[in-house]
Amino acid sequence: MKKGKVDALLGIVFGDEGKGKVVDVFTPRYDVVARFAGGPNAGHTIIFDGKKFVLRSIPSGIFDEGKLNVIGNGCVIAPDLFMAEAKELEAAGYDLRSRLHISKRAHLILPTHRVLDRAYEAAKGKNAVGTTGKGIGPTYSEKAARTGLRVGDILENFEAKYAALKARHEQQLRDLHYTDYDITEEEQRWLEGINYMRQFQLTDTEAELNRMLNEGKNILAEGAQGTMLDIDHGTYPFVSSSSTTTGGVCTGLGIAPNRIGEVFGIFKAYSTRVGAGPFPVELFDETGDKIREIGHEYGAVTGRNRRCGWIDLVALKYAIMVNGVTQLIMMKSDVLDGFETIRACVAYQKDGVTTTDMPYDTEGWQAVYKDIKGWQTDLSAITSAADFPEAFRNYIDYLEAELHTPITIVSVGPDREQTIIRQHVS
Ligand code: IMP
Repeated sequence: MKKGKVDALLGIVFGDEGKGKVVDVFTPRYDVVARFAGGPNAGHTIIFDGKKFVLRSIPSGIFDEGKLNVIGNGCVIAPDLFMAEAKELEAAGYDLRSRLHISKRAHLILPTHRVLDRAYEAAKGKNAVGTTGKGIGPTYSEKAARTGLRVGDILENFEAKYAALKARHEQQLRDLHYTDYDITEEEQRWLEGINYMRQFQLTDTEAELNRMLNEGKNILAEGAQGTMLDIDHGTYPFVSSSSTTTGGVCTGLGIAPNRIGEVFGIFKAYSTRVGAGPFPVELFDETGDKIREIGHEYGAVTGRNRRCGWIDLVALKYAIMVNGVTQLIMMKSDVLDGFETIRACVAYQKDGVTTTDMPYDTEGWQAVYKDIKGWQTDLSAITSAADFPEAFRNYIDYLEAELHTPITIVSVGPDREQTIIRQHVS
C-alpha cells in the first residue's frame, strides 16, 4: 500500500454487495474511513463482537479506536436518522464524538424532502423509481438547484433558513396536489437531531483529509450503492442521485484524482437489484427464489425482496472501466454452492442486435448466457484458496480472464473469518 493515498472500495453493480463486511476487514489498514456519496438510503450491515449494526450514514471504521471517520461533502444527511444511528452506537460503548467528523458542506435532508420523494414517486405512477423514500433525490436536486441547506448552516441563524426552505417545499407539494401528509412528530425528532448534531465535530473535512494525506496517512473511501445506480453511469432514470463511482470519491471528499490508489470493486457471485428499472439477468423462476432465499436477499433499509439473477459480465466490464477497478472482491460465493450449473451473462441481445458494451438504454435487452459447471461443494468452511474445489477455481479463472482484473478476495460466508485473501496485490 502506498502512503498518502485514497483507496476506494466500491459496489460495482446495484449495491448490496456486502461492502460493510469488507470495510470491516479492511479498516485496520487505514487511518481514515470516509463516506463520499449517498446517505441513509445505504444500509451497511456489520456483525461485530456478536452484535449486528446497520450503518446508514456513519462510516464503517467507527468501531476502531484511533481511526478518524468522515462523512464527506458529497453525502446527504438526515439529522433524525443520524441521531438514532449514533445513539445506538454510543449506547453500545463507541465514542463517536472523538472519532467522527462531518463535512460542513454535506447537504441536509429535510422532512419535507422525504415527503417530496413520495410525491414525485406517486406522480411518476408506473414509472416510479422505487426509491428508498429517504428524500435522497429531492435533496440532491436541491443541491444542484443551489437552494439547499448544508451542515454548516446549522451553526448560525438556522431556524430562519429552515423555515424559509420548508415553506418553499410546502408550496411545491401544494402544486403537486400532494397535501395528505403530517410531519409534526417527524419534524420534532428532526429538530432534536439538529441540536444533537451540533455536539459533533462539524468541520472542513476536505482540508483535513488533504492534510492527513500530506502527512502520509491512508484513507479508505467507503462507497455506497453501486455503479449501476450512479447518476451518470447507471441505468438512468432508475438510479440514485449521487456519484457512486471513483469520480465521486474525488468530488465527494475534495481530493484530487492523483491521490487515488487502489480501486477495489465489490460484486456478488450473482446479481441483485432493489427497486424498479432494467435488469436483463433477472430470474423470475424458482432459481431466482432459491438465490434470494439462500442469499437472504431482502433490503437492509426497506426490507423489500431483492430481484435476483445470474452474474452480469456486461455490467461488470462497464463498471471496471468507469471506475478504473484494480482489484475485484467476490462476495457470497457460497450462495451458489448447490447449483449444478451456473450461468454468466456475456452479452445483451435486442431486435437481432447483440452487444457486449453497456447500452445507453438497458430497457428491453435479453441476457445471452454461458453455462458454467457448478462446484456443488460447501465453500463456507474453506479457509484457504488452496482448498477451493477445482470447479470453483475454474469459475474464478474464467471471471478473471473475462474481466481482465484479478479477484484478490473471495468471501464464502458472513463471518469475518470467511474472507479469503487469494493474493496480496497492494
Ligand atoms: P434512492 O437512492 O432512495 O433515491 O433510490 C433510487 C434507487 O436506488 C432505487 O431503486 C433504490 O432501491 C436504489 N438504492 C438506493 N440505495 C440503495 C442501496 O444502498 N442498495 C441498493 N439499492 C439502493
